[in-house]
Amino acid sequence: MSAQVKTLNGVALVTGAGSGIGRQLCLAYAQVGCRAIVLADIKIDGINETISLIKARGYATQTLGLETDVTDMVSVKHMVSETISAFGSLDYAANVAGITATARVPTAIYPHEEYDKILEINTKGVLICMQQQIQVMQKQDATCTPGIDNPLRAQRGSIVNIASITGFAALQNMMPYNVSKHAVIGLTKSAAIDHAPQEIRINAVCPGMTETPMVAGRKIYTVPGKSRGWAVEGNGKQRLAIPEEIADLRSMRDT
Ligand SMILES: NC(=O)c1ccc[n+]([C@@H]2O[C@H](COP(=O)([O-])OP(=O)(O)OC[C@H]3O[C@@H](n4cnc5c(N)ncnc54)[C@H](O)[C@@H]3O)[C@@H](O)[C@H]2O)c1
Repeated sequence: MSAQVKTLNGVALVTGAGSGIGRQLCLAYAQVGCRAIVLADIKIDGINETISLIKARGYATQTLGLETDVTDMVSVKHMVSETISAFGSLDYAANVAGITATARVPTAIYPHEEYDKILEINTKGVLICMQQQIQVMQKQDATCTPGIDNPLRAQRGSIVNIASITGFAALQNMMPYNVSKHAVIGLTKSAAIDHAPQEIRINAVCPGMTETPMVAGRKIYTVPGKSRGWAVEGNGKQRLAIPEEIADLRSMRDT
């Protein structure tokens, strides 16, 4: 069994839990002592793999896998209501599900179909999930997480949206993805300021290029023998990030 360090004790919900950053976040929530994790993804096989990894590490955390489409209101309402039915609260929500751009052409000719699809999943999906999560959190009592005893820091829930470094800067020929992540930052800031008075904390994490199936699937990064030079340019570590680094809750908890 991997070492467990009890720094969180509530119920976590992760979208995009079946792969990459979402999977690592589930493992991190289990490692820090969450009593339950709800794993949501459009791909049930990925969810089951993540649950197997949690169990293989011997964590005591309960799990519930839910096949969910973050763009479908009925599916998202079901995800949140099942969380409450199964475990009684929703304390930490991570909106990770997302897709990347595939056409990779300049803005002038970028296909609108892909623009709509990326915005639907990466941006509207985050909005739909956040709205349902906030509505549930608003009804909960404000409590402190373990190790925090100042009542001023009590919270009804915490939401983390995964945006991207492309929420600040633009990658070439990735216009819809860039737009979607700029919008996630805007959504996060708006929701954070609207719901801070109700003790709901809402933040975004903006990863740089990270070694996950999303990136591995792009031949441009993986041509044998070719360097990933441009992908790590300006990156102090001269390598892609690994998903465990993005999912590191020690840095995320107090954002
Ligand atoms: N990998 C990177 O370099 C990088 C960098 C910055 C931000 N991000 C963001 O991090 C998040 C996770 O990316 P990743 O690299 O782990 O990718 P990934 O492809 O490994 O995982 C994404 C997961 O989202 C799920 N998903 C896609 N559409 C969905 C939908 N409609 N409903 C529910 N689930 C859906 C997929 O099935 C998959 O399991 C994404 O939002 C991505 O934009 C990734």
